[in-house]
Amino acid sequence: MTAQKSDLKVQVNALYPGIVQIRRDIHRHPELGFEVQRTAGLAADYLTRLGLKVRTGVGRSGVVADLDVPGASRRIALRADMDALPIEEQSEQPYRSQIAGQAHLCGHDAHTAMLLGAAALLTERREQLPASVRFIFQPNEENLPGGAPAMIEDGAIDGVDYIFAQHVWPLIPSGRAGICRGAVMAQPDVFEIEIIGVGGHAAAPHQTIDPVVIGAQFIANIQTVVSRQIDPRETAVVSVTQFHAGTTHNVIPERAHITGTVRTFNKTVQRKIRNRLRDGIAAICSVYGAEYRLQYQEGYPVLINHPRATEQARRAAGRTLGEENVIYPAEPFPGGEDFAYYAQQIPGCFIFLGTRNEQKGLVHMLHDPRFDIDEEILKHGMALLAEIIMQASRSEE
Ligand code: NI
Repeated sequence: MTAQKSDLKVQVNALYPGIVQIRRDIHRHPELGFEVQRTAGLAADYLTRLGLKVRTGVGRSGVVADLDVPGASRRIALRADMDALPIEEQSEQPYRSQIAGQAHLCGHDAHTAMLLGAAALLTERREQLPASVRFIFQPNEENLPGGAPAMIEDGAIDGVDYIFAQHVWPLIPSGRAGICRGAVMAQPDVFEIEIIGVGGHAAAPHQTIDPVVIGAQFIANIQTVVSRQIDPRETAVVSVTQFHAGTTHNVIPERAHITGTVRTFNKTVQRKIRNRLRDGIAAICSVYGAEYRLQYQEGYPVLINHPRATEQARRAAGRTLGEENVIYPAEPFPGGEDFAYYAQQIPGCFIFLGTRNEQKGLVHMLHDPRFDIDEEILKHGMALLAEIIMQASRSEE
């Protein structure tokens, strides 16, 4: 075992410069949404050179490659996302984005590069692997409805028993990893409300139906949904983030617009809050005789780690980084992640790969224009993904 472990380290170090180059190449050429043709082409070329069976155009622009292990009865999938964000990067690095207004500020460039590295490591060990592997590179993680549903639709996880993914994580120091027990990410819903009253002179409010007062009451009211109507042992957030109305000081406007977000970690709580918002706006508008339009858009489902997949990920992370560097259970995060769709279908685990490095000034959060990864962690990430497969048991436990 020791020999094998040090072999892996030697190989990781040998692959590392090439994987850094790939990451920087993708970082220079960020692509958005489903339009990830260049990145997908780069991944497909690399996988083809490894001799894997490669399918392109999966889920519109995703790539799926199979590493078939003779005699293996199970298949494990490893997934990376490929899309960037429509944000202007603030960076002096030579590999900074070359496309104005677009940048890899969520680390998906690193996810793609690390999964390619893992594919190279695993292909070299093909004969000794306990399971066949599927490498999944998906588009459009950042935008609803996500890229995962399209990938699943196109058969990306057909015949797959388990699935794993990792996300670079600036809240955890470089060299460590975090694994959540159960819920990992929230369901992030968005609501938009338009209140339609009757406008008029500010000195004659009795002739109007004032949408500002109605909106203010609604906002104050829904703050009690979490504090008074949700079980205190549950976690939920309701935030109003926009409230627009009116144009001047002496006119009561006709309309007010309210936008906000609801973050929940289970379906029962999510439904309850959604219903309370709907009933709340209906009731208050009816009291004042106003009309309203409510749009409620559901975000990705809650991402839940499966207990067996979690065990497997913990084992692999312990071997890769040392037991003392595995944070378990890690804190869930109230963002959203479309890996949730895969994990709804088959047992899955989503790992936070630490990338915070104060000495190097790498402390910025995901989606921050200054976000960058500590490239050293590319080693951890590709080794960790490879270990997940190598540590898998040969048959169903
Ligand atoms: Ni991301």
